Amino acid sequence: MSDLDQVTLNAGDKSVVLPVLKPTLGNDCVDISKLTKETGLFTYDSGYTATASCKSAITFIDGDEGVLLYRGYPIEQLSEKSSFVEVAYLLVNGELPDAAQLKAFEAELTAESTVDASINTLIGSFAKDAHPMAILAASIAQLSAKYHASLDLADEVQRRQAALRLIAKVPTLSALIYRHSQGLPANQPDASLDYVSRFLKQTFESADGQYEISPAVVKALDLLFILHADHEQNASTSTVRLVGSTGANPYASVAAGVTALWGPAHGGANEAVLKMLEEIGSADNVESAVLKAKDKASGFRLMGFGHRVYKNFDPRAKIIGVMTKQVLEELGVQDPLLDVAVKLEQAALQDEYFVARKLYPNVDFYSGIIYKALQIPTEMFTVMFALGRTAGWVAHWLEQQVDPEMKIGRPRQVYTGYDVRNYSK
Ligand code: ACO
Repeated sequence: MSDLDQVTLNAGDKSVVLPVLKPTLGNDCVDISKLTKETGLFTYDSGYTATASCKSAITFIDGDEGVLLYRGYPIEQLSEKSSFVEVAYLLVNGELPDAAQLKAFEAELTAESTVDASINTLIGSFAKDAHPMAILAASIAQLSAKYHASLDLADEVQRRQAALRLIAKVPTLSALIYRHSQGLPANQPDASLDYVSRFLKQTFESADGQYEISPAVVKALDLLFILHADHEQNASTSTVRLVGSTGANPYASVAAGVTALWGPAHGGANEAVLKMLEEIGSADNVESAVLKAKDKASGFRLMGFGHRVYKNFDPRAKIIGVMTKQVLEELGVQDPLLDVAVKLEQAALQDEYFVARKLYPNVDFYSGIIYKALQIPTEMFTVMFALGRTAGWVAHWLEQQVDPEMKIGRPRQVYTGYDVRNYSK
């Protein structure tokens, strides 16, 4: 934080005084909203590296210190003591639930976990090898058709119901998408189970309803969902907010978030990490992979490395790094890719290129190895991320809907095309 309450910007013969906003935590922000009106100037910030797009009370990140807080609670404490459903409640409502509130929230999620048979028709219309993220985006968008009668965004009850439906139904959609890809029959979620067990059973149960729930698997997945639940104004959450700012419904907004998450520079990195580790193949090839990642001409980057905000370490990666070994041990899985990952991490962390650029493993570096140990196919990894992140997306969407300063998101540009010219051939 600075001592500045305002900054003065001199632009030729004009001078404009801009207020400095003071957040609870983090960098002060110069409020430039009156800059254009007073000077005619826009600002340019490709990739929003220095631009806050909204005020938010949900999540705080300190990238230099490796701090991540959900509603003020450190991610390390939530990972150790909480559950994904409790974290989802916290993100959406702002406070931790008491026992009765948590029970009621769980019951609401269970009641909302079923989907209409028309979803099976939609999912069934995709090729079996279609990417699951494409099907997830389409099936979430379809929910807006199903619930078009309860999309009054001015109604707090309807808004909350839509948010809850999304948290409840995304696991069901994900399970059905997986089953379609495997040629397994569509099924219903088991209402007698908790959130994570319900998802696992619906995903993996055989055609005659058999699935043995492993507490180790449930615990691992629950923790991954907590770690993925929110990350302030990342690309997919900002997409949800941008679409939400137009007045689009929450299902359409979250479907857009899914497509933003899909990219390998964002949530798609977990899938890309595993493919990269498989390509590297053995710890002996790590050195040449690091060399290639440093060679800009190769176009190859170490997937799961680097982060726009974390410039010291990603606290989620720390938690996942420890957890990966535990989960593999508990499940009795020996995966040679773990050796490749460990050696790659060590090599990169000692390499001047990565040190100088402050490139550290991010949340996606180890998550794929865990998902693989849980027998989740590589193409489904980003769907798992979306499942956890839905809680954050809807929390941001809800916050945005009651933000008195909310405006339609509409960036400006630095035009670099032709000057006006006359039509002629
Ligand atoms: N491997 C090799 N070099 C890298 C990597 C990497 N993974 N990441 C960044 N760099 C280099 C860049 O080439 C650049 O070098 P230069 O300064 O010599 O030109 C420098 O580090 C800064 O990189 P930028 O791309 O400018 O950083 P930015 O903040 O825009 O990008 C990002 C962050 C997208 C995460 C990037 O580090 C990356 O592509 N990582 C790999 C993909 C990945 O793991 N994404 C998941 C992010 S976490 C999440 O979304 C869940």
